Amino acid sequence: MRVNPGLDGVVVTDTEISEIDGQAGTLIYRGWNVDELAVRHTFEEVVYLLWNGEFPEPSELDRWRRKFGSGCLSDRQRQMIRLLSPEIDMISVIRTILSSLGDSSFLWPPTAEKGIKLLAAIPVIIAARTRSLQGKTMLEPREDLSFAANYLYMLKGTEPLPAHVKALEAYWILTAEHGLNASTFTARVAASTETDLASAVIAALSALKGPIHGGAPSHVDDMLDKIGSVERAESWIRERLLGGEKLMGFGHRIYKTTDPRAEALREVVRAGAGEEPWFQLAVEVEKIALAVLREVKPNRQIHTNVEYYTAAILKAIELPRELYTPTFAVSRTAGWIAHILEQAANNRIIRPSSRYIGPKNERIRNN
Ligand code: ACO
Repeated sequence: MRVNPGLDGVVVTDTEISEIDGQAGTLIYRGWNVDELAVRHTFEEVVYLLWNGEFPEPSELDRWRRKFGSGCLSDRQRQMIRLLSPEIDMISVIRTILSSLGDSSFLWPPTAEKGIKLLAAIPVIIAARTRSLQGKTMLEPREDLSFAANYLYMLKGTEPLPAHVKALEAYWILTAEHGLNASTFTARVAASTETDLASAVIAALSALKGPIHGGAPSHVDDMLDKIGSVERAESWIRERLLGGEKLMGFGHRIYKTTDPRAEALREVVRAGAGEEPWFQLAVEVEKIALAVLREVKPNRQIHTNVEYYTAAILKAIELPRELYTPTFAVSRTAGWIAHILEQAANNRIIRPSSRYIGPKNERIRNN
């Protein structure tokens, strides 16, 4: 029996949803290059593609788009949002409110109709909680705005800048799906038990929350704050690496070259905020970190991952740090649901094995 720690290199399913080429640094959704999708399509279209394998017909697209604006909260859920202690983090708030939605409408088997209902609720929950903490009125999505525009509108209460909407949309498209990462695998494991769709998404959210998965981007900003200036970068980074710490926003199980999403995001931020001192610091620190990593970890092929420039793009659209992981959760919910639908189409409960290495033939002692 061979054990692969972290399931490294273990193939557990066939999928038609996406392919990552870790050597070439490419990512495709249903045959389409993700960089191209981010430039030419809307998030709503990409979700349709991920869940259905093809783009919607123009007549279908309008109906589909309207569903993205259907997220709303009951009075009881708004009340729950207000009552939850301010210390509770946003992912836990989303999980709690999704649990309260987990009614009969999400029961097995999952469908795209159920999926859209769940996905549409998440930005509404995030915005309602944010505004409740600020003592402001909670807002509902507007029919005339896109999914990305509505998120920013519901958070800020004003119509967002088109450049911010475009940047958020590109970010959401680039991060919607990424194979069997920890949270997506969690979603598939939960779904394989034929649990309801809300529960499978809640399980995935719990995995995403961890600091070395979806929790990394706010730590990237913390790291850049601590570094403070280009002059301090090399010594700060070297000290951390020699002390055995990991640099947030670097390293990936699959990519042995730069994560293509990191490159695409860097260019989106450059287009909108290229002159900002914090962006220039991020770019310079990236170069220095890669050079020090090559020296300190010469055989490890550690490159920039998507989280590094996630921090930059979310800063560019003026979102606070505590919303970085929740904002990522919105797009990744689309990927989780694509996998839950695929799992359900040909389900077998996921049940791997472990190798016992504990003691054998122990006897209960009679004193
Ligand atoms: N900084 C310094 N060294 C690193 C880093 C890093 N960011 N990432 C990996 N390494 C080193 C490890 O120290 C280890 O070296 P060693 O064997 O000499 O001790 C080697 O590379 C292998 O590292 P593992 O942790 O075994 O790699 P794994 O594939 O398990 O982990 C992970 C991948 C979790 C992403 C890791 O690179 C990491 O923790 N990065 C920092 C956190 C981060 O940015 N996470 C976001 C990932 S993207 C996402 O989840 C959406």
